[in-house]
Amino acid sequence: MREIREIALRRPDDMHVHLRQGPQLAGYVADLAASFARALIMPNTIPPIATPEGLAAYRDAILAAVAPSGGGLTPLMTFKIQPGMDRERIRALKAAGAVAGKYYPVGVTTNSEDGIAESESVMGAIAAMEEEGLVLCLHGEEPGAEVLERERAFLPRLAELGRRFPSLRIVLEHVSSSDGVEAVLGLPDRVAATVTVHHLLYTLDDLLGGGLDPHLFCKPVVKSARDRAALQRVILEGNPRFFFGSDSAPHPKASKEGRAGAAGVYSAPVSLALLAGFFEERGRLEQLGPFVSRFGAEFYGLPANEGRLLLRREAWRVPSEIHGVVPLAAGRVLSWRAATENPPH
Ligand code: NCD
Ligand code: ZN
Repeated sequence: MREIREIALRRPDDMHVHLRQGPQLAGYVADLAASFARALIMPNTIPPIATPEGLAAYRDAILAAVAPSGGGLTPLMTFKIQPGMDRERIRALKAAGAVAGKYYPVGVTTNSEDGIAESESVMGAIAAMEEEGLVLCLHGEEPGAEVLERERAFLPRLAELGRRFPSLRIVLEHVSSSDGVEAVLGLPDRVAATVTVHHLLYTLDDLLGGGLDPHLFCKPVVKSARDRAALQRVILEGNPRFFFGSDSAPHPKASKEGRAGAAGVYSAPVSLALLAGFFEERGRLEQLGPFVSRFGAEFYGLPANEGRLLLRREAWRVPSEIHGVVPLAAGRVLSWRAATENPPH
């Protein structure tokens, strides 16, 4: 059989990404725009994205950074759900361009000190989101549970939200456990999950089985081989309710390597290359396109992207640092590379 040298994908979407703000934004946008046509932008900036004005200003800042990168990234905006947000605010956020709201339980991840302590305090906001057709994105970890149990401990809340809001679309973000996968499978089709490259490919042994690798530390943490196998199974089966969201979350090298190292994996520069390798090794390369270019768009009710992205077979070494951040798979030689040009189809 002839070796495949090139993969042409419909331009992909990343349905969960952190772009940060300020001077760092431009570099992170450029890395993302090199591979993705659209991305769902997480709102855990400081201050958080929680007002229509804040949301519009953040989108404008991203768009201003996109132009020089030449990639043509469309940001899909989200807001952070905050206690007491009323219907008017939700409507105004939608009018400003929000497609989803993000639920962060208090203290479970980067910049979530202002997260939700009492779920009842946001039920009005979630009811308004259901009415407005906005998607609810969940950071599904329960504060106070043991770190490896946090996702599992959150799952009853996922089921409860699904019951209480019968037409709400819900995404369990960065699903990391076999229990999380099972929970989503047991709920109606309007409940889905994003899957990251790192949860799909790595386990706790990669994080701390040998030398501690702070650059693989994220929330939720990567888990057991059994958990990873459950994720791989649904992805290889091509279940459309499990779609790509990288949770690419850059932190400067120094804040990851010091004490109380920050949680977040910078995967944007390598995610498609790693995914192509994953699907190819398992003889399922045909599942790459649906996972990154179709299922997420369909769930969000977005039109398919125009244009193509080419992945070429080319050995390249992942840089040890990009914009002062150590990317996922730093120093490794990968065999697929996203071509930077996006030829029209
Ligand atoms: C994310 C970040 O750094 O903003 N960190 C992470 O570990 N995933 C926040 C998040 O998505 O939890
Ligand atoms: Zn995230």
